[in-house]
Amino acid sequence: MLHPRIIVAKDPEAVGKAAADQFEAVIAKKPAAVIGLATGSTPLPLYRELIAREKAGKIDFTKVRSANLDEYKGLAPDHEQSYRKFMQDNLFDHISIKPENTIVPLGLAEDVDAMCAAYEEKIEEWGGVDLQLLGIGHDGHIGFNEPDDHFPAMTHEVKLTEMTIEANKRFFNSADEVPRAAFTMGIGTIMAARKIVMVVTGKDKRDILKKTFWGPVDPQVPASILQFHPDVTLVCDEDAYPFN
Ligand code: GLP
Repeated sequence: MLHPRIIVAKDPEAVGKAAADQFEAVIAKKPAAVIGLATGSTPLPLYRELIAREKAGKIDFTKVRSANLDEYKGLAPDHEQSYRKFMQDNLFDHISIKPENTIVPLGLAEDVDAMCAAYEEKIEEWGGVDLQLLGIGHDGHIGFNEPDDHFPAMTHEVKLTEMTIEANKRFFNSADEVPRAAFTMGIGTIMAARKIVMVVTGKDKRDILKKTFWGPVDPQVPASILQFHPDVTLVCDEDAYPFN
């Protein structure tokens, strides 16, 4: 069993700064790095920090390519709650990354299998993901890989669990409006990244964080597969760290 490198930061802002250090280092070494990005509230301080660092001349996104983990099925790219819109509003519109160098699974895809296969092919064409950012759901999901009896390999369609719909309804007018399905990179896609940074904050994530890295590797806790990845950095705040 491998163990993550662990950074326990004071609060969510400090988590954002520590995670930004990882991005800065990877992009400094490889200006055309391929970064895997995540949505949710946890990465927001990181995205603010990345925007500030580019403004301060410390990072240059002009050659960077990015691939997002997931997208809700059925939402148009400009839908208020789509992950594409989230990325535009919280990061892409404020940095120099080129629009054609950003990919997010297409929520409105008609041929799902073709869209998922093309997504994998694009990442491969770019030479694979250099640095993958992850958050974690309360049930241990990464991207939208929900608890299952196996670890799904590639980008695919998933049914969201009630727990995830409940957790994500805060962004919609009601739980009824939350899409019931999504497209997500597979566990195999995520594990193929050369380096992974997971950001976790808040007391409510403490239990699942403990299960993820200090429990058995089990597809019922999808993130637990990360115990088999050779280069994981866990950046969590004091509230989320299970041994405080
Ligand atoms: C969503 C996303 C995940 C994210 C999770 C946690 O379900 N698909 O990628 O990690 O939410 O979000 P938050 O950081 O808001 O707790």
